[in-house]
Parts: sequence; structure tokens; C-alpha cells
Amino acid sequence: MHRFADLPCDFLWGVATSAYQIEGAVREDGRGASIWDTFAAAPGRIAHGDTGRTACDFYHRHGEDIALLSALGVDTFRFSIAWPRIVPAGRGPVNAAGLDFYDRLVDELLAAGIQPFVTLFHWDLPQALEDAGGWPERATAEAFAAYAEVVARRLGDRVRLWTTHNEPYCSSWLGYVTGEFAPGRTDLAAGAAAAHHVLLSHGLAVAAIRREAPSAQVGIVLDSWPQHAATADERDVTAARAADGVRNRLFFDPVLLGRYPDDVLAALGAAVPPVRDGDLATIAAPLDFLGINNYSHNVVRAGPDGRPVAVPPRGPTTDMGWEIRPTGLYEVLLRLQRDYGSPPLIVTESGAAFEGIDDRDRIAYLDAYLDAMLRAIADGVDVRGHFVWSLLDNFEWTEGYAKRFGLVHVDYATLARTPKASFYWYRDTIARSRAERAAPAA
Ligand code: FCB
Repeated sequence: MHRFADLPCDFLWGVATSAYQIEGAVREDGRGASIWDTFAAAPGRIAHGDTGRTACDFYHRHGEDIALLSALGVDTFRFSIAWPRIVPAGRGPVNAAGLDFYDRLVDELLAAGIQPFVTLFHWDLPQALEDAGGWPERATAEAFAAYAEVVARRLGDRVRLWTTHNEPYCSSWLGYVTGEFAPGRTDLAAGAAAAHHVLLSHGLAVAAIRREAPSAQVGIVLDSWPQHAATADERDVTAARAADGVRNRLFFDPVLLGRYPDDVLAALGAAVPPVRDGDLATIAAPLDFLGINNYSHNVVRAGPDGRPVAVPPRGPTTDMGWEIRPTGLYEVLLRLQRDYGSPPLIVTESGAAFEGIDDRDRIAYLDAYLDAMLRAIADGVDVRGHFVWSLLDNFEWTEGYAKRFGLVHVDYATLARTPKASFYWYRDTIARSRAERAAPAA
């Protein structure tokens, strides 16, 4: 049987990126500051003191990058819109030059035969909104809906595929509870409120996009690392369930089932999020698809106080120290369809950090994860697309430029782009899947 026999004929092959990680030009054409500009400027937050000031200079070099997308043969390109380019102070006046940039980008992609796949929030909150309290404030959700409406009004005639947020777990929990990510706060109640308001803003934005662009296909991208117990000991199993609660169910359940998981609320105690009547119905707005990012899993044991503690990976890892575990992707896709009756799924990110241009380790990783996805499809899961993270090496958040995820190498001194072996592998994989679908197995 052909490898791609089970793929739907309109299956989308793509690559994914995000604004702060690739654009640079942080002070150009009226862009306001974002929390990642502030966070990166603070000493000790990012490896080697790296910042997104220049990044891959996609803002100026996107023509070259679209040519790479054409050579790759992807159907679609996932990029995010920088809220501070559109509404520099987070709420209030709209910056025409910011909208113009994405308007041109969309036209250039379409002219190259590539569908834009827009993410409205990939973590770069306008700093002015953080100064006013950030995601723990309900008003931030309202400001996001207004921003979504402005973007959908301008691009909705040409952009069909929209997602509201990328990985709410990271923007809320890592941003406000653990403090690993911008804005770097460490306050459980603030993090729980942030999670709720990010999700609420998702629901409000879904309605805004549908109002402005009635033919839009709308979804959200959720983080999905499985949390496995280190042993069958009941304490470890309970700890793994708690970790799964915060990492996965705190986001899966409200979006897909319209409720927060009781065990997570109980564990939050006095830090429960400020949920108002009607919020959960807003958050659970029916979606056209659900985006899933999957890289790895965590093995968890109970610490002395019973709380979950991640144990070091047992198997081979990528340069991020993330265990290579393709069955995790299979498991997540099945779980979402079986336990949640999820809308059609799209693998919105799959990828690995490795060094080198002859990157056979990345090819092996991507191939194994692709197999896991194909196995899920063969077992009946409705998966409509697959995106590699990422087109280019880029600013990998707290790791700065030290970790390379690209199919294309970026020389940060010259900004020269060089396709890696994995670029040609992905190109050939996409071409082969099209050829097999055109000539199905007898
Ligand atoms: C995901 C993020 C993406 C990138 C990859 C490696 O969690 O969505 O921006 O950093 O990890």
C-alpha cells in the first residue's frame, strides 16, 4: 500500500513560523513594544542575551522566503500576526503600516499559490497591555477580540484559515506561573486568570472572525505533551494526572467540552480563575478544526509533597533535551478524537532542534512523527494537515538562536538562507504524497 493512501485529497502540507521568532524590525513602521522585547532585554532571561531585534529579518526578506516556500511545494504557510504592529498600544489606534505589511504578505503568498494560515497570537502581547495587568485582566481578552476584528476585516476576503492562539499553556502558565516565558511573573492566581482570559479571548475572537469573514475556517492551536507516570505506583500516577491537568486538560476541556476539569479547579484552591456566567459557552464555540503541536512527552513522578516532578528523559533526545517519542503524537491524536470528539485535527507543529545542514537526525525525527500521524489517520482519526516547525532557524524563545529548528539554515551574521537536507526530504515527501494521491494504489 502507498504510504499516503489514507490522506484526504485536500490534505494540507505546510511549514510554521511566528512573528517574534522571525520578523525582526521591532521598531519599524510604527510597531509598538511587546512583552518579548521587554523580556529579552532583561539580563539573564535569554541564552547569550539574544533578542528578536533582527531575528531572520523576515520583515524585509519575506520575498526570498516565499521563493523558498515555492521550492518546497507547500500548500500553506503558517505565520503569526504581531498584535503590536496592528494596535501598538494593545487597544486604541490601529497602525495602518502594520496592516499593510500583512496585507502585502498575504497577496504575495496567494500569488505564489500558497494559502496563508494565520495565527493571531503567538505570545507577543503588546507591552502596554501587560503594563495594565496583562492576561490576568479580563480587559485584555476584550482588547484581543477588537484586534482580531480589525485583522479579520482587512484580510478576511483572502485568508481562509485562521487560528486565534498558539499554545495558551505557554502564554499563561509559563508566562505568569513559572515565569520562564514573558512576562516572567510567578503568581499562581495570576496564571489561572491568564489562562481563563486567553481562552475567553479565543472564544470572543472566533465570533469576531466569523462576523468579519463568514467563509473563514477557524480554530485554535493547543499544546499537547502527554504526561506519563514514571512507575505504576499510585503516587506517581496521581502526580502524572495532575501534570496532565495543567498541561492539557485545563485547555482541552474548556475548548472542547465547555467546562474546566474539577480536579484542576480543586488543586487551584483559592487561585481558581474568575469565570463569569456565559464564559464557558463562549470558550467552547464550535471550531472548524483544532491545531495540535506535539514535540515530546514528560515522564512524571511524585515529589516529596506529592506534586509532579518531571524525570530526565530515558530515550534519545533532540538538542532541546526533548525526548524523541513519535508515539506521543499518535496517542494525542487518538485521545482528542476518542475522549473529546474533537473537530478535524491539524498537526500545526512538528519538528526538532538539531545542528547541521546535512541534518539526517531531523529527517529521521520528522519521518517517524509523520508515520505516527499516518498511523492515527489509518486508525480513523480525521487529520487534515501537517506543518513542520519551522521553515527557518529562528529565535527559539529563552534559548535564543542557539537551537536550530529550520528546514533552512540561517547564518545570523549575513542572514543568508541555505536549505538543509531536510528541506529536500520534505519537498520530496510532499511531492510523493501528491503523486500517490493522483495515482491511487490498485
Ligand atoms: C512551540 C512553539 C514554537 C516553537 C516550538 C519549538 O511550543 O509554539 O514557537 O518555539 O515550540
